[in-house]
Amino acid sequence: MCGIVAYVGNKQAYPILIKGLKRLEYRGYDSAGIALFNDEINIYKKKGKVANLEEYTEDKNISGHIGMGHTRWATHGKPDDTNAHPHKSGNSDLAIIHNGIIENYAPLKEALINEGHVFETETDTEVLIHLIEELQKRDNLSIEEATRLALTKVIGAFAIVVMDKKDPGKIVAARKASPLVIGIGDGEFYIASDATPIVEYTNQVVYLKNEEIAVLTNTGEFSLKTISNIKQTPSIQELDLKIEELEKGGYDYFMLKEIHEQPKTIADGMRGRLSAEESWIRLGGLEEFENRITKAKRLIFVACGTSWHSGMIAEYLIEEYARINVEVEYASEFRYRNPVLDEKDVVIAISQSGETADTLAALEMAKEKGALTYGIVNVVGSSIARLTDAGSYIHAGPEIGVASTKAFTGQVTLLTMMALSLAHKKGTLPKSDYSRLLAEFENVPVKIEKLLKSCDEQCKFIADKIASASNALYLGRGLNFPVALEGALKLKEISYIHAEGYPAAEMKHGPIALIDENMPVIVTASNMSSYEKIISNIQEVKARKGYVIAIVPEGEKEIKKTADHIIEIPETEEIFTPLLTVIPLQLLSYYIAIIRGCNVDQPRNLAKSVTVE
Ligand code: M6R
Repeated sequence: MCGIVAYVGNKQAYPILIKGLKRLEYRGYDSAGIALFNDEINIYKKKGKVANLEEYTEDKNISGHIGMGHTRWATHGKPDDTNAHPHKSGNSDLAIIHNGIIENYAPLKEALINEGHVFETETDTEVLIHLIEELQKRDNLSIEEATRLALTKVIGAFAIVVMDKKDPGKIVAARKASPLVIGIGDGEFYIASDATPIVEYTNQVVYLKNEEIAVLTNTGEFSLKTISNIKQTPSIQELDLKIEELEKGGYDYFMLKEIHEQPKTIADGMRGRLSAEESWIRLGGLEEFENRITKAKRLIFVACGTSWHSGMIAEYLIEEYARINVEVEYASEFRYRNPVLDEKDVVIAISQSGETADTLAALEMAKEKGALTYGIVNVVGSSIARLTDAGSYIHAGPEIGVASTKAFTGQVTLLTMMALSLAHKKGTLPKSDYSRLLAEFENVPVKIEKLLKSCDEQCKFIADKIASASNALYLGRGLNFPVALEGALKLKEISYIHAEGYPAAEMKHGPIALIDENMPVIVTASNMSSYEKIISNIQEVKARKGYVIAIVPEGEKEIKKTADHIIEIPETEEIFTPLLTVIPLQLLSYYIAIIRGCNVDQPRNLAKSVTVE
């Protein structure tokens, strides 16, 4: 959940660390800090954003060729200067940054207090660095050996970087469950939670595997072993990431840029995988296991947040077209429920980051119980991508705004291809329908492009009308019910307006009591299969003076008469409507958040990837 960056080599470390922290700020922004070695280990840390830290260090000694930086999403201890990372050992010789949670920190802390250790912070991380210090002192160990031994004693998730004043040309990095990437330069190394701080310096990287510990020196030495002390050979990979993908490209916020990228990212997700002309869909990861998947007893999707909403869309599509039994589970519930699972089940994880702790744990459990595991992931080389038996990338490119947009449509694109491919393979979809749907699928990116242009001003206008609301209700039926959930999530996470998504027909079983003239009700009403019913639902809202914003198909006439505002989406097959109806919902949330003065890319209390439980 936090962001880690470190450097060892011959360059000045400070600019690399600050720039890296800015790239990683999406992972948490409760506080930021750096440690630089220059005769001493100098630590500077500040509550709040990296910009605060930068300002704070203006008059400080920031020279040093070895250093590390951290941007925090608080778990143990409130977000303040003291609890900010890096943390020092008791003798101030060692410094650590940490992403994750040390679950057994309390007994470890008690034992260390009994040994005479005094703690300055409320964090679990400080306990770990004191433990390393204690082991180092007790047996006169090197920093790497003391760190390795300490890690055998901790329970939990971690990605850590450790520096030792007594061994100043060296950095020790280790991980379990939380990600860490090492960039290899010319006699220098860059270490980070993801590749974004590294890409402008080198494209040669090593993704640290689970429970590995690396020692990196300023003379270009790289040694690797497991925490259980087995020597490993680093496997170097080439990064496929461009620096422009990490910039805002003229937009005020990454979220807006990412919304506008969707015609391209959806087309990228289809490229080489779908041909309407030749009537095929080929998903590399799927082909090998397609037989097993079509014969599976159940497909169980596990995910969190927006990715869970994509899973719900998959449920509608796969059941409808491929006639395979689908269940969609919150990963956090599934992992603790002892579900009945066996080798006839297929567990499919959906995750933008590929690092979400609950989704990872759910997959691990599924593997143990013998299920086939499949990953639908955006971040290449991420933990979920590596853990699963097979999988498909969505190819949406780096998503930096905390609110997921292009990853959602990338996931839905991939899942729609999956549903059609499975249906074709099983023979549950007539060939002529399959060909017709593929032809329309290829038109979707152009239709989104058109929609982005046609609805932008309208979304701004409507945003202005409803930005002062305290609550909002999102309604949808069928495929558009998960879209309603996604619309509500977008609004609450970036504008802090309380919003709920509901199946439109469920409204009369409770939420209708909330409706009055102050309640905006956003209805995704594009499904022609339940058109009459959705009209009735809208009338029920209007009868209670609700303020209705309806997303309707182009040229629609009935809803237009009743709703306060309508946003038209280009005509398409019903199966593809979630890819279109979600666009105005994303833009509405964005403009409402702007009007309310919120930081769209870094909403309060949130972080982009949730690598803790
Ligand atoms: O990286 P993941 O897709 O696994 O993340 C899951 C959720 O944390 C994520 O979708 C979250 O809900 C977003 N902030 C939604 O915009």
